[in-house]
Amino acid sequence: MTINSPFPKGFLWGGATAANQLEGAYNVGGKGLTVADVLPGGKIRDSLREDPNFDFVMDETKYTYPNHDGIDFYNRYKEDIALFAEMGFKAYRMSIAWTRIFPKGDELEPNEEGLKFYDRVFDELSKHGIEPVVTLSHYEMPLHLITEYGGWRSREVLTFFERYLHAVYNRYKGKVKYWLTFNEINSGIVRPLFGLGFIAKNDDERYQQKFQAFHHQFLASALAVKLGHEIIPDSKVGCMIIYIPTYSYDSNPENVMHTLEVSRLFNNFCGDVHVFGEYPSYMNKYFKDHNIELQMKDGDLDLLKEGTVDFISFSYYMSRTEKKVKTSEEQVSGNVVLGSIKNPFLEASDWKWEIDPLGLRISLNELYDRYHLPLFIVENGLGAYDKVEEDGSIQDDYRIDYLRAHIKAMRDALEDGVDLIGYTSWGCIDLVSAGTGELAKRYGFIYVDKQDDGSGTLERKKKKSFDWYKKVITTNGSDL
Ligand code: BG6
Repeated sequence: MTINSPFPKGFLWGGATAANQLEGAYNVGGKGLTVADVLPGGKIRDSLREDPNFDFVMDETKYTYPNHDGIDFYNRYKEDIALFAEMGFKAYRMSIAWTRIFPKGDELEPNEEGLKFYDRVFDELSKHGIEPVVTLSHYEMPLHLITEYGGWRSREVLTFFERYLHAVYNRYKGKVKYWLTFNEINSGIVRPLFGLGFIAKNDDERYQQKFQAFHHQFLASALAVKLGHEIIPDSKVGCMIIYIPTYSYDSNPENVMHTLEVSRLFNNFCGDVHVFGEYPSYMNKYFKDHNIELQMKDGDLDLLKEGTVDFISFSYYMSRTEKKVKTSEEQVSGNVVLGSIKNPFLEASDWKWEIDPLGLRISLNELYDRYHLPLFIVENGLGAYDKVEEDGSIQDDYRIDYLRAHIKAMRDALEDGVDLIGYTSWGCIDLVSAGTGELAKRYGFIYVDKQDDGSGTLERKKKKSFDWYKKVITTNGSDL
């Protein structure tokens, strides 16, 4: 049977996860601590990652740390990958925990046991014909590099990252073709801890030091592209940004200009450096206004040019609405993390993330118009409270509705002429939330019996959305 699908042949349908959110085994196999390991679960995580007094020490008498056990993917990867294969996944986006390979980050030799673990995972994926799409750094920076070196503010971290690149590229060159550099690199604009590895305490750290850290990461990303091409000639190395289309509250030109500025800094700045291999001119004014002078070495600008990305990958969950001057009520009504205001046309999830499928079509068009490079949606999904019914089923129609609407938007964007190569929905199996460290915020097609209080059998169950997504993949997106 030939299916007439708007999606291209070979489209990479699949799911996405990150090591620190599902593997568990946080101190097994020689693994060192990451920033995620010392951040507790629950609402407190949100405030700690901005608390200048946070001392990066675990305190199990006071807090719980759900990601220490995750969903035990470390031991159950075969069962989980078999379920992904049953849904028909063509691709699986995952990350390598840097600390399984270099436990502290600054060692000279990699940890063989960590390397072996990912060998086993890649071999299992290959057995099922699933293409791995591997993030090199997904919110799991070695803790030692944060406490001893100050995170990406230190140029030395670049040397350690280069060592990590050599280790994983040489080891997995026959197994992994698609690589992503830094997960949601632009998230550091609002919250530097996860990506850049420090908490900004004052204006110097908020501006000068933050953008210096970005500079080091851009060099690291360019190196990842360059070395990737040298060591694995058929590799494709992409950047990963969080894209949040930003609407002006109204047609007042003051608000429109403000929206443009907000969007350029958050949505475009990192992508522009990754794609064009140079700092965009609009940043000159920003740097001047905030007394930022980047320290560069000879050759830095050449490296940025030599290491431009092959494709753009991005996460999409929501849009945001901006206004230059906000009333205090508007200030708290919308997305508090991003400081944007409520959009009266949109509903929001239980975590106040405004649901906007058309925003995905807008994002795809904006990104393709700007970069003319293949696009890959590597995260999208609905975090929700799921309920297990008495008969054991999970009727997650709300998740199906969300995903259907977003996949329709992708279909429309393809008709608009966008080059989209794949879609890996976030948290294809329930895992620990990055933002709040909770298990209760579930995204999966596969339910995992594990609760925030540590209880649960870890049994996997298919939700209603499991068969629905399987059908979407089988029909290459024509039956939604
Ligand atoms: C992205 C991250 O921000 O969104 C993921 O790359 C994260 O790591 C996902 O899990 C969903 O966010 P949250 O806070 O619901 O886990």
